Amino acid sequence: MKHLLKLSDLSSNEIMDILNLADQLKYEKKNGIEHKILSGKTLGMIFQKSSTRTRVSFEAGMYQLGGSALFLSSNDLQIGRGEPVQDTARVLSRYLDGIMIRTFAQQEVEDLAAYGSIPVINGLTDYAHPCQVLADLMTIREHKGMLKGLKFCFVGDGNNMANSLIVGTIKMGMECSIACPADYKPDTGIMKWAQENGKFTCTESVLDAAKDADVLYTDVWASMGQESEAAIRTAAFKGYQINDDVMAAAKPDAMVLHCLPAHREEEITEKVFETHANEIFDEAENRLHAQKAVLVKLLGNS
Ligand code: CP
Ligand code: NVA
Repeated sequence: MKHLLKLSDLSSNEIMDILNLADQLKYEKKNGIEHKILSGKTLGMIFQKSSTRTRVSFEAGMYQLGGSALFLSSNDLQIGRGEPVQDTARVLSRYLDGIMIRTFAQQEVEDLAAYGSIPVINGLTDYAHPCQVLADLMTIREHKGMLKGLKFCFVGDGNNMANSLIVGTIKMGMECSIACPADYKPDTGIMKWAQENGKFTCTESVLDAAKDADVLYTDVWASMGQESEAAIRTAAFKGYQINDDVMAAAKPDAMVLHCLPAHREEEITEKVFETHANEIFDEAENRLHAQKAVLVKLLGNS
């Protein structure tokens, strides 16, 4: 594994290795055992979109691993004034040991990796959010004790989260069902791959998708960059909400996850959110541990 650009680049074994290392690093952190594995290493973090979790967990994670992280807002970089990503990649490769980038186009992340000579990590694009899904899988395994055979259900927009969750859950042997409006389906190529490689369904019926689910997941109706579509989307996604009716269709012990930030009473009710806050904030915490595992795998010496 040279980069983390999207989950489909990783084998099931590579994902499992990351989850196992993440568990170990979490245990060490909780027990005050230092792990300065990346001493002297520097991660550059390019942000073209806002972030709370990704920025803080990567920065704190690098620090805990003995290295350092640079926050690079695209507003301040020459990339924001049109310097090509190909040149930025070759320059940053001379200074840094790794780059994390949050941007719009997946191609920009792929180009950064192709032209640079250091590991690149996708911190969210319009197409994928692999770091989030590694933390999600870690959290599901933590709470359920396993992944294989569980039924996973995503309710809402067929966005970057849906795309990465489909790949991650199917690769880990879970059943994956998506409930979304017909005009807001996940990526066609990803759905085709999922149908060929596992148990996958995509339906407009939230209750059908949620039936007997072990894990329910949702995300905002309008993602970053789609703010101008908010009104149209609010109408289109009416009913695509995790609420008491959806919980009743799932297994009685179903867990609920949300990548955050959450919009209460839109994609999830306040009541369901607060009932499952423990799971949702474990999930947010696990961003730190899962990404530290990715950093060790990509920037570590062995
Ligand atoms: N879930 C997530 O990526 O959060 P941020 O946008 O705050 O980084
Ligand atoms: N789909 C959301 C995820 C935020 C973590 C977005 O792209 O804005």
